[in-house]
Amino acid sequence: MKNIDWKNLSFGYVKTDYNFRCYYRNGQWGKVEMSSSEMVDIHMAATALHYGQDAFEGLKAYRGKDGKVRLFRWEENWKRLQKSAEAILMQPVPKEIFKEACFKAIQYNTEYIPPYGTGGSLYLRPMLVGSGAKVGVSPADEYLFLVFATPVGPYFKEGFKPVKMQLARDFDRAAPLGTGHVKVGGNYAASLRAGQRAHDEGFAATIFADAKTKMYIDEAGPANFFGIKEGKYITPDSGSILPSITNMSLRDIAQDLGLVIERRHVLIDEIESFEEAGACGTAAVISPISLIQDRETGKEIIISKDGKPGPWSQKLYNILTGIQFGEVEDKYNWCSFVEC
Ligand code: PLP
Ligand code: COI
Repeated sequence: MKNIDWKNLSFGYVKTDYNFRCYYRNGQWGKVEMSSSEMVDIHMAATALHYGQDAFEGLKAYRGKDGKVRLFRWEENWKRLQKSAEAILMQPVPKEIFKEACFKAIQYNTEYIPPYGTGGSLYLRPMLVGSGAKVGVSPADEYLFLVFATPVGPYFKEGFKPVKMQLARDFDRAAPLGTGHVKVGGNYAASLRAGQRAHDEGFAATIFADAKTKMYIDEAGPANFFGIKEGKYITPDSGSILPSITNMSLRDIAQDLGLVIERRHVLIDEIESFEEAGACGTAAVISPISLIQDRETGKEIIISKDGKPGPWSQKLYNILTGIQFGEVEDKYNWCSFVEC
């Protein structure tokens, strides 16, 4: 076990010992290779560097109450990486290669898996990078698939405490028929300015409105949005948001708890009627939202007054993290055990 201040881990980069790489060259994928270097040697004309031909994923491994290591829903991340690859004409990564690289990134870095009880986890970052040289705008002939691991704590420093978010209409994260539904680097580049401004103005993140009408909520910069009212779990349906695996899991849990699931357009005007609201994602887990400032009008919509997560958000959080840490029966079969 490494000498790391596990309880105070943030969502930052901590060097681990090994990462795993696989190259697509001459029309085929090679073998998964182990590397102890933090660097990638890439051609200066690589399509990822010029034309944003790159995609990534984010998933977590958890040290459970029983000491076992669980990886959460990795096949869903693989499927989403397939969709990202398809969307920007990259070579898709075979499932077995994705699995081998993810499992090895955990198994060769076990000393970096935060101990049970600290709340931390080992974050895996699979990346698919257009590495072949092109100068004209066209897809690369060569790709690098790489998985690195890093121990992480909460994405928002508040952890599971309500945060304030800022609704921005003057920036778009993704175009209606663009790439918002897949996890490609360009979406995040497009969200940086709004995100930075939200931080500078005292908010944890930006909530983006839909780019076309600016009437609906799309999602937060790094996470999906959900609201709860009148026994319903309501989450935006939009072609320009990332289909979150956490949100998908929460919908199943919410339904089993007796909430009615509504996946539909969510009007910005509806926010004030929510009894609870939150942002959800692998990094954010559930981040309850206490207040949303509409930056354009200056109006502050208060959702939680007492600074505490609402009862439904608390239940959802307890069950989701309970499954991930082996405290609650995984009746959905979401976790894969990793022999370490
Ligand atoms: N939305 C965006 C823009 C994200 O970057 C993420 C993180 O992956 C999510 C939503 C949440 O998705 P997931 O729950 O699959 O991590
Ligand atoms: C994740 O939740 O895994 C993400 O990728 C979100 C963010 C760090 C970009």
